[in-house]
Amino acid sequence: MFIGVDYYPEQWPESRWPEDIRLMKELGVNVVRLAEFGWQLMEPVEGKFDFSLYDRAIDLLTQNGIKIVLGTPTATPPAWLIKKHPEILPVDQNGVTISFGARRHYTVNSEIYREYTKKIVTEMVKHYGQSEHVIGWQTDNEYGHEKSDRSYGEADQKAFQQWLKEKYQTLESLNEAWGTVFWSQTYTQWEQIPVPRKVYQEHNSSLLLDFNRFCADAYTSYNKLQTEILRNFAKEDQFITHNFVYTDQAINQWEMSKDLDLVSFDNYPVWGGLAEPITPAAIAHQHDLCRGTKDGKGFWVMEELSGAQGWSKIGYLPRPGHIKLWTYQAISRGAEAIVYFRWRAAQFGTEEFCHGILDHDGLPKRKFNEVKEIIQSLNKFGDDWISSYYKAEVAAYYDLENAWAWQIQPQSNAFDHKQEFMRYYSPAHRLNAMTDIISKDSNLEGYKAVIVPVYFLTNPAFNEKIRQYAEKGGTVIFSYRSGVKEQNNFVIGETLPGALAEMTGIKIHEYESLQSGQSNKITGKSGSVLEGTESEALIWCDLIEPDTAEVLAEYAGSFYKGTAAITKNQFGKGTVYYIGSAVDEALLHTLYKGIFSEAGVSFTETQNGTELVKRENDGAVYLCVMNHSTENTSALSLPDGKWMDAASDEAFFGEMTLQPLETRVLTKKK
Ligand code: GAL
Repeated sequence: MFIGVDYYPEQWPESRWPEDIRLMKELGVNVVRLAEFGWQLMEPVEGKFDFSLYDRAIDLLTQNGIKIVLGTPTATPPAWLIKKHPEILPVDQNGVTISFGARRHYTVNSEIYREYTKKIVTEMVKHYGQSEHVIGWQTDNEYGHEKSDRSYGEADQKAFQQWLKEKYQTLESLNEAWGTVFWSQTYTQWEQIPVPRKVYQEHNSSLLLDFNRFCADAYTSYNKLQTEILRNFAKEDQFITHNFVYTDQAINQWEMSKDLDLVSFDNYPVWGGLAEPITPAAIAHQHDLCRGTKDGKGFWVMEELSGAQGWSKIGYLPRPGHIKLWTYQAISRGAEAIVYFRWRAAQFGTEEFCHGILDHDGLPKRKFNEVKEIIQSLNKFGDDWISSYYKAEVAAYYDLENAWAWQIQPQSNAFDHKQEFMRYYSPAHRLNAMTDIISKDSNLEGYKAVIVPVYFLTNPAFNEKIRQYAEKGGTVIFSYRSGVKEQNNFVIGETLPGALAEMTGIKIHEYESLQSGQSNKITGKSGSVLEGTESEALIWCDLIEPDTAEVLAEYAGSFYKGTAAITKNQFGKGTVYYIGSAVDEALLHTLYKGIFSEAGVSFTETQNGTELVKRENDGAVYLCVMNHSTENTSALSLPDGKWMDAASDEAFFGEMTLQPLETRVLTKKK
């Protein structure tokens, strides 16, 4: 398998390169990614290309057996280009032009920028596209990151109007689709349509949703412009990828990935200013998203954190064991290559405090030794491990357009889409149930349970798909505020949950939005799986009227005390749950255990913070066991049989104890 580092030879004197490469070899590195911010070096003056610095670095690296992934440098348009064409700069919602001086200072809607992109990408791939040492390409760097996903300038407005023309054909249908009769917004010319810059309070919600779709499409087409050029000149076996950041930004990873050979992802469980890492489930969910982006295909971690990170503020120092844990977690969930960010901490520039495997002094120390040990272990079993597969029995539905609809109208100041997605995904993670994150185009066959969190903006095709899935015997978990909107972002005209009413067996006539600090209470119904449980009800309360559904829990406060809060309905051969509020982790833990047991989902209870991930192939099963706690040991009951540590060949049976931050891969022959 490939394991490497992100290397910036341009940031060091050439006299240091041989020592860097000597240390890389000692570490066991077999790939480096470079050049993704090197435009000025490769085109110092418009039209004059000079690849000599990277040529020399690549020669040295490859003479030492290290392969190369090249980044196209379009995240950092050089100063000469901005001076000549300031109109390529993006514009924020307040109409303020984003300045040169950091990175990502361009709008994908600038035709001028697209022309310059074509030139630099063409020259670069003509130069390196036939090299046997270059194994792949990364387009740009983290599209949309640092709030660069939406731009509100003149070029953007023109492109938005054009996009709308193609989508709606006539102004009449656009006006109807946006409900522009409201507040006298009817457009009589395409040129009148604004990009959603600052207004008093809020824009039309349908315009906003289309603007997100447009921004995402614009980035997809910009990426395609690059991939088409790369494909024209690159050797067939050079892959093309992009290093995504998985957030709810206006970037459609799923669409964009259709033009990529594989997906990459930058894994930073902790960053500037954070006092501690994000939760194990939050990290896992990003890997599951990556794996789901291209239907289960393995992905690259193009930047795997190896030291404390931050720009003006530095975050938590990863503890001894963290690099290994996060590396193994990524591989267990689908990464087939790991590239550590970064080789060495820079002595200048914005990222002086982004620490790497080496710190500023360039000496191999603790982190170097930790990575060296990881690579040595993976050399032993990594190839077999990554060629095994991850088989999920549970799916969690994620729809980017739904996330955007929530961003536009969170409806409560306590609502955050990612947090709420995680609320319903995390219990499956905590139970170590193998889970895929799926999209509206995924095939549901083969899953024993499908979780559909905060399904606010519905998709007619998915409504039908999930209905059939349940009818044929599947188990579905819906959460609050489901079925509310249709594709134009209009509220549906039927009683809630609309298209989901029959399958959930409920009606919702009233609901209440709760703000931060406000809550209701929920108590489990006696005789149900939730008997004896209690939970806070936060953010939202759907007042459920059961039709054919059975009540599992009800509200304990307010005028709707005694009203159903959580229900279960038999629908066809399947079972459909509806959770009407943002409830506690503990209640969800109990509920999911009950649901999974009934649905025949395999799960393993571990102490909170201990993660198990199973992979298998025809001959063997691999169990990656990870204790995320920095303080507590964790007792674990292994499934039957003799388990061997894949790196050390130690044998384990029955009970085992994991030390804080201990990670192992155990394997058993089938
Ligand atoms: C990533 C980015 C890198 C570097 C890193 C710092 O988001 O792709 O270029 O900025 O963060 O941690």
